[in-house]
Amino acid sequence: MTLDPTRTRRTHLDFGACHGGVVPKSWISSLTMLSRSRNVLPRSVLASSVRLARAQSTASDAELSMLEALLKDAKKRKSDEAKAAAAAVDGGGPKFQVQTFNAISPSGLSRFPSANFMLTGSSGKVPDGVAEEPHAILLRSHKLQSPEVQDSVRAIARCGAGTNNIPLDEMTKRGIPVFNTPGANANSVKELALCGLFLAARGVVEGINHVTDVILKEETEHKKINARVEKDKSKFAGGELQGKTLAVLGLGNIGAMVAESALALDMDVIGFDPKISVDAAWRLPSEVKKMGSLAEAFAAADYVSINMPYIKGVTHHIIGEEVLSQMKPGCSLVNFARAEIVDGAALKKLYDAGHKGKYVCDFPDEFLTGHKQFICIPHLGASTDEAEDNCAKMAADQILNFLETGTIKNSVNFPAASLDRQEEDNARLCIVNTNKPGVLGEITTLLGSLNLNIAQQLNTSRDEIAYNVVDLQDFPEGDAATEVQEKILSLDGVISTRIIWTGSVHEGPKSFMVKA
Ligand SMILES: NC(=O)c1ccc[n+]([C@@H]2O[C@H](COP(=O)([O-])OP(=O)(O)OC[C@H]3O[C@@H](n4cnc5c(N)ncnc54)[C@H](O)[C@@H]3O)[C@@H](O)[C@H]2O)c1
Repeated sequence: MTLDPTRTRRTHLDFGACHGGVVPKSWISSLTMLSRSRNVLPRSVLASSVRLARAQSTASDAELSMLEALLKDAKKRKSDEAKAAAAAVDGGGPKFQVQTFNAISPSGLSRFPSANFMLTGSSGKVPDGVAEEPHAILLRSHKLQSPEVQDSVRAIARCGAGTNNIPLDEMTKRGIPVFNTPGANANSVKELALCGLFLAARGVVEGINHVTDVILKEETEHKKINARVEKDKSKFAGGELQGKTLAVLGLGNIGAMVAESALALDMDVIGFDPKISVDAAWRLPSEVKKMGSLAEAFAAADYVSINMPYIKGVTHHIIGEEVLSQMKPGCSLVNFARAEIVDGAALKKLYDAGHKGKYVCDFPDEFLTGHKQFICIPHLGASTDEAEDNCAKMAADQILNFLETGTIKNSVNFPAASLDRQEEDNARLCIVNTNKPGVLGEITTLLGSLNLNIAQQLNTSRDEIAYNVVDLQDFPEGDAATEVQEKILSLDGVISTRIIWTGSVHEGPKSFMVKA
């Protein structure tokens, strides 16, 4: 609770004027306790009261009644606050419910202001007497089943890049945007990919294994261990990365970072990405030389970093016999994307035939696990505290932004949508409908027939879904507003509507309406 600053100032001045007053010790201790427990009084007031007590003068009736009034006022505010908090919980409050699956990083959960959001599922319980009706779902790897998604759910966010644990098609049909967090774990993966390059360049893993599995088993005395280390180390000598050529395959969030770091290590960097986005192309350092094909990239590379997505039927075993046959004799691969992109059997054949490269991979490979040229890392790419925090923060922010303003960013099934508010007084209507001709026309005709003036609007679509953000002047309130929503919802093809009055979640979730 905070005090009105004007009130605080006035109180302080009044105290300052009371030179002659004595404040009973019990009052001061009450005021101090009250202040410590609830922060209800400013330090200045306490300091004044203590000064007054020290002055040991006589209090006037006016001063005593002022202190009494102050104490009464503070107690009343404390009691009002407690009542308001209890009422919010008892009645369900105007709070959005965010249901979580898995352990979500507290850095993400703390983005939801507790005054307007209630965390449920793995993050908390719905209070007794409050209906469980999640408005958003936040999850990591939980395999979400369609029946787990209640009708009240308006958005789902996955803390991570992939969304194959979410029934996407079903959610699209139900008009629910699904968000992911591209790039939030990119730095974490980039750092391990760089580690992979170093492990490929130097005999670090082989050397450590030799010390543990051979030397320490044969020698126990420090002097002898030391001598053996010096004698055997030449078996694990490696090369440097500086001046070598790295081919980065896939120049998205992770690939671009790997490329940039490799340039900083003085490597020559070439890249291959037939599907590069305009944004990614802009982000890419100009020193990265563009290759026209995988084969061309492989032919020029001393090291290859695989950073493209795994897409069944498209990138499955895309690095197979033909491409691998272009490799220089010592070229090494680092794969922090997905194991299935590389044809392990074809690579093993090459290694067994004398190829000297190494394969550092964040996943096991059916044919290569256990091979001396294969370094298997147990899928640690995105396993850092920072990556989990970043993903959770990004997922939470996207949900918040959607609930507060209707903005859609980083959805995997909805179009991107962002419309700045022109006038705070305008109400914002967000409508999800199937993407078929005529629906938008029907919506605007209906709004016109209701004498509602459109101040601005955004209509955007992706595949079978369309999304409209319409700012309206003089939108009615209360039951009249509900009637407008019901009329829109009754139009063929409209899946859901929602009114955002002020762009603040203080309004709570009541303005969502979904077609039964
Ligand atoms: N090891 C881990 O823990 C971990 C963590 C996160 C991501 N990943 C993997 O890393 C991959 C890349 O992640 P990102 O965040 O950089 O994704 P991203 O979508 O930002 O970038 C992927 C890039 O690959 C490009 N691409 C698509 N098809 C290609 C092809 N056939 N050849 C070359 N490039 C192609 C795309 O155009 C895009 O620029 C993910 O798909 C994921 O499989 C692994």
